[in-house]
Formats: sequence, C-alpha cells, structure tokens
Amino acid sequence: MVSAELDLAGLRRVYGRPGSWLFYTLVARNARHWGWTEPGQSKWRCWRAQRQLEGVLGRKLALPTGSQVLDAGCGTGTVARAMATRFGLVVTGVDVLDFHLRDARRLSARAALDGRTKFLWGDYHALDFPDASFDGAYSMETLVHAYDPERALAEFFRVLRPGGRLVVLGPMSPPPEEMSPQGRALIEAYIDDMVFPGAKQYHTGNMNQLLRKAGFQVEEALDATENYLPTSAALYAYFRVPYALLSRLGPIDRWLNMRSVVQMYHVRKYVYWYIHTAVKPL
Ligand SMILES: C[S@@+](CC[C@H](N)C(=O)[O-])C[C@H]1O[C@@H](n2cnc3c(N)ncnc32)[C@H](O)[C@@H]1O
Repeated sequence: MVSAELDLAGLRRVYGRPGSWLFYTLVARNARHWGWTEPGQSKWRCWRAQRQLEGVLGRKLALPTGSQVLDAGCGTGTVARAMATRFGLVVTGVDVLDFHLRDARRLSARAALDGRTKFLWGDYHALDFPDASFDGAYSMETLVHAYDPERALAEFFRVLRPGGRLVVLGPMSPPPEEMSPQGRALIEAYIDDMVFPGAKQYHTGNMNQLLRKAGFQVEEALDATENYLPTSAALYAYFRVPYALLSRLGPIDRWLNMRSVVQMYHVRKYVYWYIHTAVKPL
C-alpha cells in the first residue's frame, strides 16, 4: 500500500516528464546520480565520473562475490547492474516509480543480468523483506527523497544481517543554523522543487547521530564534495545556455532536471556531498 506520506505525484513530476526522460536517457545514459572525479582528472568526462562513483560504492560495500544487496531507490538499475558486473553482487532494487522499474527490468534483461539483479516495487520506509535478508544495502542519492529518514535508516538496519554493511551516498546541507537566511531560502526552494523532504531533516551535523540511533556503527563519514564538484561544474557549463534558451520558450519545469543541474551549481556553496559507511553490529 502506498503511504500517504509518500509524495508520489511530486516524484512523478521530477522523474516522469518527457524532458526528464530525455535528460536521463540521452544525457545521463540512464544513471540518475552524480559522478566522482579524481584530483587532476578532467571535469568534462561526466560518464567516466559516474562509473568511478559506482566503483567507489562497490569498494565501500566491500562484500564478497555472491553477497545479497539491497539497492534502496534503484531508479532504472544502472547502479545495480554495475554492482552485479563489477563486484559480483546479487542486487535487489526497490523503487516507487513503476516506469523506473519497467526500464530497470528491460535494461537488465538486455544486459543478460536478470539473474543477478531484480527490481520490485517498494517504499524503502516499509520494506517487504524479512529481517536480516541482506548482506549489504546502499542508497545512491535517494535518501534526500525520504519523508522520514529515521524510519528509512531503521528499515535498512532491520533488513541487514548482523555484520551487514550500509553505504549512503548523496548531497546534504550544513545545519540550518550555520547558513545565512539568504542561503537557507535558496537551498529550501531547491529542495522543495526537487521533492527532497529528507534534506530538510538531516544535514552534515546530524547524519552520524541518525545512523547511530538506527543501531549502526558509523565506519566512515567521508566528505567527498571536492570529488563531486567537478561534475556540478561540467553539467552547469554544458546546460546553462540550453536552459536559458528553453526557459524563453515556455514553462521551464518541463525540464526540471536540467533546471536542477543549473540550480545545483547556484546553491553549491550550501551543498556537501557525503558517503557514509556503516555496519550493523554483530
Ligand atoms: C536520484 S534517483 C537515483 C536512482 C539510482 N539510485 C541511481 O543512482 O541511478 C532517486 C530514486 O529514488 C526513488 N525513491 C524516492 N523515494 C523513494 C522511496 N520512498 N522508496 C523507494 N524509492 C524511492 C525515486 O523514485 C528515484 O528513482
């Protein structure tokens, strides 16, 4: 059953419009996440940066081949397929958008990965799996959408076996009291536009605490902003002119994702990119 707290209509607006579909399919080649650039690498190769970020995730999960892993908010399954092919993991993805799940299944079948990836409808606040079902879990740029991040983290904890590993990747702001009123107004408009209720509830100041409250031991809270910023800068450079032209032709929210990459650059001063690695104690 769909929770009344889940803003499905908002998520459909963010990901379901033809402009978003074109952006994610043609530009991002189905991935719906940012990228990791090493110092000294060119910022322009965004697809390489995305593959590198998936590599970082696989290494942080650090699980043996054949491990069962949950992908919370799997989108069209790009990350799940990377975990299966590059790290030998067996991935179950859940998402609340039927059209993402449809594409995820189709793309996995096309890559002959349907035996090692599966995709189910599920809200990660209330997962339909027994306790201790998974050796690992990750959330790639999805916890920002959580309507109740504490509940989502508790659910990840429940479905992990003792010793299981969690990696949470994504953007977050500094604590509200550390931002100027102008900065807060900017970031909050962005957060509302993109349906990021989670981003109003957690921030750089409380994420470790929330993980511990769910029962996890925090192994690492990595501020990876320097590795993510080149992707922001490149996307801004690629899209600011098309964005300016399209905004003259009609309502720009048809191109919400293009607007998002342009806006993300404007709010970059208030955005940190973190990778949290946590373990469910034995
Ligand atoms: C930015 S996309 C990331 C997709 C994928 N992780 C990737 O990196 O390509 C966020 C995804 O989270 C999903 N999502 C949002 N809230 C969710 C929830 N409560 N339960 C499951 N999935 C959710 C969205 O539908 C969307 O597919």
